[in-house]
Amino acid sequence: MTRLKDKVAIITGAGGGLGRQTAIRMAEEGAKLSLVDFNEASGRETKKIVEELGAEAIFIKADVTNSEEVQNYVSITKDKFGRIDVFYNNAGIEGMVAPTAEYDEAEFDKVIAVNVRGVFLGLKYVLEEMKKQGSGSIINTSSIGGLVGHENFSAYVASKHAVAGMTKVAAIEYGKHGIRINAISPGPIKTDMVINAARKNNPDNPQEYYDMLANLIPSRKLGEPNEVANLVTFLATNESPYINGSIIAIDGAMTAI
Ligand SMILES: NC(=O)c1ccc[n+]([C@@H]2O[C@H](COP(=O)([O-])OP(=O)(O)OC[C@H]3O[C@@H](n4cnc5c(N)ncnc54)[C@H](O)[C@@H]3O)[C@@H](O)[C@H]2O)c1
Repeated sequence: MTRLKDKVAIITGAGGGLGRQTAIRMAEEGAKLSLVDFNEASGRETKKIVEELGAEAIFIKADVTNSEEVQNYVSITKDKFGRIDVFYNNAGIEGMVAPTAEYDEAEFDKVIAVNVRGVFLGLKYVLEEMKKQGSGSIINTSSIGGLVGHENFSAYVASKHAVAGMTKVAAIEYGKHGIRINAISPGPIKTDMVINAARKNNPDNPQEYYDMLANLIPSRKLGEPNEVANLVTFLATNESPYINGSIIAIDGAMTAI
């Protein structure tokens, strides 16, 4: 398929569950990929997988909280591929699981640094390039934690509400420059993030945690990374030209209740 033929896409958190599956999906659609992660081993593994699918790809090691490293992944991508058509601004962490009064201050700052500052820096430096081009599609990863509250996740919920807010602001600012900025809000998707949360919540029996989650979801199942990758890819293509500034839930109706 060729829905993204010769389009250049940057994906942050490309070594993780959603980043990797989206890289695979975009590779299948003909995109050239700039894969960013601070975990070199998992990022390089994603590069290998998409190259085996025939995609042209580079891996750039970067911590999204570090401005120089963000500017670096933007400039390396420009130097290698000449432009940036798609930006999946996706790296994120879930942080600790604790009620607000017991939430560690340093952990709060860390979650905000990755999930808010990291997303902001990515927007700042990618938008600069897309504005010069007069085109582009950005997809930020928020969460159902950006739509409603969840006990024991105060930093995460704050950070994902912030991602939704930054998405709306950027869409208002850059729509006139031919750039679309949307956010996706996934419910629980079975990646390392949810696997870790299950271990933290119920170390003796993580399956009980998955079953508990599934029972909260009208569709009665956790989401699959490929389901999210399909949505991100749709938002990346020019099949969604009038979707801009939207926060799109993909959660089996979990937040419809
Ligand atoms: N899995 C879910 O249920 C779920 C639900 C809603 C939202 N999300 C969001 O989706 C995004 C991707 O999560 P995932 O489920 O693929 O998790 P994951 O843990 O599998 O992947 C996250 C990736 O981000 C990378 N990363 C973390 N901090 C970084 C940093 N400072 N600099 C560069 N890379 C960094 C990690 O190395 C990892 O490869 C996150 O923003 C997460 O909050 C996930």
